[in-house]
Amino acid sequence: MVKFIALITAAGSGSRMGEDIPKQYRPLAGKPMIYHALRTLCSIARISTVCIVLAPEDTEWIRHNWREFAGKIQIFNCGGATRAESVTNGLKALRAANHVQDQDWILVHDAARPGLSTTLVERLLDQLADDEVGGLLAVPLADTLKRADDAGRVIRTEPRERLWQAQTPQMFRMKLLLEALEKAPAGITDDASAVEALGLSPKLVVGNAYNFKVTYPRDLKLAELILRERAIT
Ligand code: CTP
Ligand code: MG
Repeated sequence: MVKFIALITAAGSGSRMGEDIPKQYRPLAGKPMIYHALRTLCSIARISTVCIVLAPEDTEWIRHNWREFAGKIQIFNCGGATRAESVTNGLKALRAANHVQDQDWILVHDAARPGLSTTLVERLLDQLADDEVGGLLAVPLADTLKRADDAGRVIRTEPRERLWQAQTPQMFRMKLLLEALEKAPAGITDDASAVEALGLSPKLVVGNAYNFKVTYPRDLKLAELILRERAIT
């Protein structure tokens, strides 16, 4: 049986957030940010294990109580200098620790996307489980796009047809993803680009705006609103 394994990237420093602790631990709706996506992924029956890639120097993880996820999570302190390195190291650690098969699916998700819902994960699994390549959650662009010059003035309006914003989870098979990341050009910012560089075409699965990446301090209020609203309904 092919397995589904989630891998949460949580080894970044959150430099654009500019706080003392890495943003994945910043409190949001009463919990550290990473708790929210972790809870969502752990609640999906088809996902057998949720791995979390932490920085080797992480001192925050052990300060919190994760008992409710016992049995389903696995921690690897093997984060690297870039997100791609963290994912690569995580996949290697997973392969060394578990009986992961080449064809098992890996769902790579950013700890900094706390608004992920079970509906989106189920949709991703439903649409990709039989796919040849794999794919990712993404949202078609809604706003008009402007290209700016150095002075912040419009050079031109860019067509937005067929443009999507990539999100996570991004779901690929173990062997393909590791191979893609090991060969990937420097500077890639998601897993799908590594797979694209092999000449493959990942499938776009419709996500939603709630699953945005919390990056700047101004994003915190919106994330908090989304999480609190979800807790009530
Ligand atoms: N990440 C990681 N290892 C890295 C860099 C990032 O695991 N070396 C993770 C982050 O923890 C985050 C996700 O990848 O969950 C997306 O990255 P980003 O939003 O860029 O987070 P940071 O790199 O922490 O933030 P910044 O770029 O502002 O420093
Ligand atoms: Mg970063």
